[in-house]
Amino acid sequence: MVTREDQVLLSLEQALSARISSEEVKRWLRDYAIPFHELMAYYRCAMMKVETKFRILNENISLASDSNHIEIIKTRLKSPMGIIDKMIRYGQPITVNGIEESLHDVAGVRVICSFVSDIYLLAEALLAQDDVKLIERKDYIMNPKQSGYRSLHLIIETPIYLQDKKKYMKVEVQLRTLAMDTWASLEHKIRYKKSHEALSEEADRELMECAEICAELDMRMERVMSSSSRMKEEGR
Ligand code: GTP
Ligand code: MG
Repeated sequence: MVTREDQVLLSLEQALSARISSEEVKRWLRDYAIPFHELMAYYRCAMMKVETKFRILNENISLASDSNHIEIIKTRLKSPMGIIDKMIRYGQPITVNGIEESLHDVAGVRVICSFVSDIYLLAEALLAQDDVKLIERKDYIMNPKQSGYRSLHLIIETPIYLQDKKKYMKVEVQLRTLAMDTWASLEHKIRYKKSHEALSEEADRELMECAEICAELDMRMERVMSSSSRMKEEGR
C-alpha cells in the first residue's frame, strides 16, 4: 500500500530531481526526508487548529444572528514542488529550517464568507485570540490588486501542542466572499490555461471589469441584507 508519506516523498524526489543532480537528491533525502515529513505534519496540525477556530467562531457568532457567516472553509498544504520552486525563486538554500523561516504560506486556510462585513468580523475575532499573533496583513479588499483580485490575507502564527513540546507555526489565512472566490478561481483557471503567457490587454481589462461587477454584487447584497435585518428588528 502506498502511504501518504510515500506519496510526499515521491513528489519531493521528483521536485528535487528536476533541479539538482541525482547525487544531491540522495544526499538531501538522507539529511532532510524525516525533518521534512515532520514539518509538513506540524503544518497540517496548525491548519486543522485554525480551521477549528473558524468553525467555533462561526457557531458562536451564528447564535446571535441566527445565520451562518461562513459558507465554506478550504485548507491546503503547499506541494513539495511548490515549496522547492518558491525557495529557488527566493534564492534560498533548500533546507528544512530555511523552508520554515522563508515561506509563510505552506499551510493555507481559505474562509469563504457570505458578506464583506463577515470577513472583517471574523478576522478581528480571530486576531483577538491570545494564541494568535498577526505577522502580516494585506487588505486586497480596500486595496485590490492590479488584476482586480480581492481578499483579506493574514499571515498568523499560532502554537501547536505536541507530545513533548509547543511549536509556533505560521498559517496563511485568506478571507473572501463567494463572489470574490468565484472571480479568483476563474481568473486563475484562465491565466493558468494560458500557461503563464500574458493575456491580451482586452482580456485583462475584461477580467478587471468582472472583478468590479463582483464587488458591486457584494455591495448590493450587503445592502439588501442590512435593510432586511433592520426591518426584521423593527418587526415590520
Ligand atoms: P505568492 O508568491 O503568490 O505567495 O505571492 P505573495 O507572497 O506576494 O502573496 P499575496 O498575498 O499577494 O498572494 C498570495 C496568494 O493570493 C496567491 O497564492 C493566490 O492564492 C492569491 N492571489 C494573489 N493575487 C492573485 C490574483 O491576481 N489572482 C488570483 N486568482 N489569486 C491571487
Ligand atoms: Mg502564496
